[in-house]
Amino acid sequence: RRLSRDTTTHQPLAYLRLRRAIRNVIQHRDIEPGQTLPSERDLSQALGLSRVTVRKAISGLVEEGLLTQRHGAGTFVAERIIKPMSRLTSFTEDLRARGLHPRSEFFERSVGEVTPEESMALNLSPGVLVARLHRVRYAEDEPLAIERSVVPASVLPDPHEVHDSLYEALEKYNCRPVRALQRLRAVLLAARQARLLHVSAGSAGLHIERRGFLDDGRVVEFTTSWYRGDIYDFVAELQTD
Ligand code: GLP
Repeated sequence: RRLSRDTTTHQPLAYLRLRRAIRNVIQHRDIEPGQTLPSERDLSQALGLSRVTVRKAISGLVEEGLLTQRHGAGTFVAERIIKPMSRLTSFTEDLRARGLHPRSEFFERSVGEVTPEESMALNLSPGVLVARLHRVRYAEDEPLAIERSVVPASVLPDPHEVHDSLYEALEKYNCRPVRALQRLRAVLLAARQARLLHVSAGSAGLHIERRGFLDDGRVVEFTTSWYRGDIYDFVAELQTD
């Protein structure tokens, strides 16, 4: 009985361990974006693991968006940033998963009375205070997105507590969203936005609105973002009912 339990748990652990090991290699940039991963057969021989285990680890990382596969050409470390839409992750987490260092430059961190538009989006009564963050988000020195977030001041009384990650600040108050509604729309970046993102005016961008909810249904963030269209892929897994 014990033996059978060991053999059943052995395989899943091996593929999860390998998946983590490959993720580490990518995060430490030991293999750069665009470079090829050793073949399934070479990996399984070198590591003494079955091909099934290696394939499972790789396909998990393809789903995460860290690896891409081209038929006949092999497996590569992904060049574009692929964001799985079914997982509620932060900008910081998406970038760190790719071995990149996220950074924010703020135009604004302030507290003020909610505007009529914000009160609708956040489901707040008029007169309530909100914290506002307006920033450009970078990976190293490369600007990737402009983001404007509004959070009820009852959750985040001082927006200066946000250094690089809003979600890390919200986590401290146990108020990280557990669910979000996200709307994506294609836009042409206006001159000022394009300048901030180091692309030419009129380049393609993705306009994203996210409303993040707490467990009890309260809206904890309303964020409008403009992502560079030349760098981001948003990928959704679809299932029949
Ligand atoms: C993404 C989302 C935003 C969210 C942000 C949090 O960019 N589109 O809605 O506010 O992540 O990221 P971070 O915790 O890095 O500030």
